[in-house]
Amino acid sequence: MLNLLFTIVILHYDISNMALQISINTGNIELDNKISEWLKWNKDAAAEHEIQELILNNDDKVLSNLFLKRLEFGTAGLRGCMGPGYNQMNDLVIVQTGQGLSMYLADNIVDVTEKGIIIGYDGRHCSKRFAELTATIFVSKNIKVYLFSKVVPTPFIPYGVLKYNCAAGIMITASHNPKNDNGYKVYWENGAQIISPHDKEIQKYILKNLEPMESSWEVTKIYHSSLCIDPLDDVMQFYFNDLEETVLYPEVNKNTILKFTYTPMHGVGYQYMTAAFNVANFKPFIVVEEQKLPDPEFPTVKFPNPEEGKSALDLSIQVANKNSSSIILANDPDADRLACATKIKNKFLYFCDSDEWYIFSGNELGALLGWWMIHKYQVQYADVNFSNVYMLASTVSSKILASMAKQEGFNFEETLTGFKWMGNRTVELEKMGKTVLFAYEEAIGFMCGSKVRDKDGISAGMHLAELAAYLETMGLTLLDLLNEIYIQYGYHISKSSYWICHESSIIKKIFERLRTYSGKLNTYPTDILDGKYTIIGVRDLTTGYDNTKPNNKAVLPISKSSQMITFTFENGLVITLRTSGTEPKIKYYSELCTPPDEPENVEVLRNILDEMVSAVVTEFLQPEINGLLSRIS
Ligand SMILES: *[C@@H]1O[C@H](CO)[C@@H](O)[C@H](O)[C@H]1NC(C)=O
Ligand SMILES: *[C@@H]1O[C@H](CO)[C@@H](O)[C@H](O)[C@H]1NC(C)=O
Ligand SMILES: *[C@@H]1O[C@H](CO)[C@@H](O)[C@H](O)[C@H]1NC(C)=O
Repeated sequence: MLNLLFTIVILHYDISNMALQISINTGNIELDNKISEWLKWNKDAAAEHEIQELILNNDDKVLSNLFLKRLEFGTAGLRGCMGPGYNQMNDLVIVQTGQGLSMYLADNIVDVTEKGIIIGYDGRHCSKRFAELTATIFVSKNIKVYLFSKVVPTPFIPYGVLKYNCAAGIMITASHNPKNDNGYKVYWENGAQIISPHDKEIQKYILKNLEPMESSWEVTKIYHSSLCIDPLDDVMQFYFNDLEETVLYPEVNKNTILKFTYTPMHGVGYQYMTAAFNVANFKPFIVVEEQKLPDPEFPTVKFPNPEEGKSALDLSIQVANKNSSSIILANDPDADRLACATKIKNKFLYFCDSDEWYIFSGNELGALLGWWMIHKYQVQYADVNFSNVYMLASTVSSKILASMAKQEGFNFEETLTGFKWMGNRTVELEKMGKTVLFAYEEAIGFMCGSKVRDKDGISAGMHLAELAAYLETMGLTLLDLLNEIYIQYGYHISKSSYWICHESSIIKKIFERLRTYSGKLNTYPTDILDGKYTIIGVRDLTTGYDNTKPNNKAVLPISKSSQMITFTFENGLVITLRTSGTEPKIKYYSELCTPPDEPENVEVLRNILDEMVSAVVTEFLQPEINGLLSRIS
């Protein structure tokens, strides 16, 4: 019996392999049509097999999900699981996206053929293929293409857009997502990531250009076309020359006794961080051998995300211990973000528990790098006038830069979450003749200077290494400086984490409940722990409600498609609850600050913060009732 079944399946397979004659009959005509259309346009044999198998198994639920939905082009471009269908990342979806995007650029940017487009890719499965397909489409439309000949850090794309004055840039990467994901990130001609309404317009153009042109598939042509140029050598030279110009104390770097350990987390960073250390005059770092080269399987980490804290840095810590190295620098796989850990020398500092290694939060690194960028600026420009100088941070990041700005006399602005907004604001400020010295977000993204209008884990790594070497000459560590910063500018204690929720309806329910807390719309919670802590301000950037502003109207732009509410408590605690654009998470960010002239017992503050955050989670998110999963690590 089993044998017979087996034969039948094999038979089906043979027929289908020959000429797509497999019968598609799911009972849903729309679905049938979408599947046959996809099979007709697709040229990837493995993907075709996968679909045929689903059809043979009558897996209608999966099929509907793959074919009746479509990956939506957003401000982050595309991000999704790799696999067949319109709702995943694959050759056909990449071709359709490239066709739509190229038409959109042609209609919206003058001289697009001359200006051209710059394309890069990371070390994931299919990334190079997706980049080549994308290049093919642009070349077939006579648009100049700068296609990197090997994996590069994501920041090379925004850097290249400005250097070559391109019409746009595309990076094929899913950053630190799980290994089966990939993504397609787009930069506009101003070197910043696209913002609305470009995303919606591009989506319309994609939908108008779905049928692949034959020329879109002719990948080998790009390697014979004079329109397709490899910018690697050029960009290496320009980028690292620019970086070298920012190096403040090359002699200090050269002679430092500090040993640095570095991991690119199985991603692209190794060669590039090596070059950065080189131009800064450092001796080579110790590399985590197992994670040195790009490996799309990310075999040594559960998640290739240094933000996940210790588990992602386990191996680095082992290597550092063996080599008596006291500082670890880690990039995420596309090297746009930076994590850092340091061996604890002074256990009396309050924020160090008994662990041997301390992993800095994004907010702490933001404070350190912000301080260092000010120091560099002051040394490099003796008669410094800070009135034209700006630093930016996203609204869910620590306000430590705001406190520094107040004392030092530079300007601080907050933006919505995501570097697309900080890139956007950087462009606007520079147009007004201002200098943007530094921008950061707590998700370990740092922009040092503005030659890259996005986060850059390579330059941030070099700057942080320099800062550590500089402090060492005075017998100080990064942790000591952090302590000094808090003493001078006030304590800023923060706590951020997230809950996982795969059901968008549950997420919606949670936030709707907060908006109608006592029945009517715009009645938000007024306290926690039965009145122990009072809420004095509510800002809802999904609906535009802000009871701290005239007419209850929020000032920052609102986004109906994502959830974001900020509560300000009477004792100064600020906590934001928001959904993530690229992951199934509800994130929270909280901070409790003290003015510099009111030193308090930090232990006490830490306890209050913990108590309040856990009450907000229990009362507002209700993890048990809503079946939320706690974070990994
Ligand atoms: C680091 O330690 C490992 C293991 O002990 C050793 O093989 C390697 O040579 C060391 N690297 C450096 C740069 O000292
Ligand atoms: C700094 O520059 C601003 C604007 O150019 C000017 O108004 C201000 O007086 C200057 N401050 C100092 C201390 O020179
Ligand atoms: C920045 O974003 C705002 C709000 O969407 C928009 O009006 C403005 O044109 C953008 N600026 C740039 C330089 O893209």
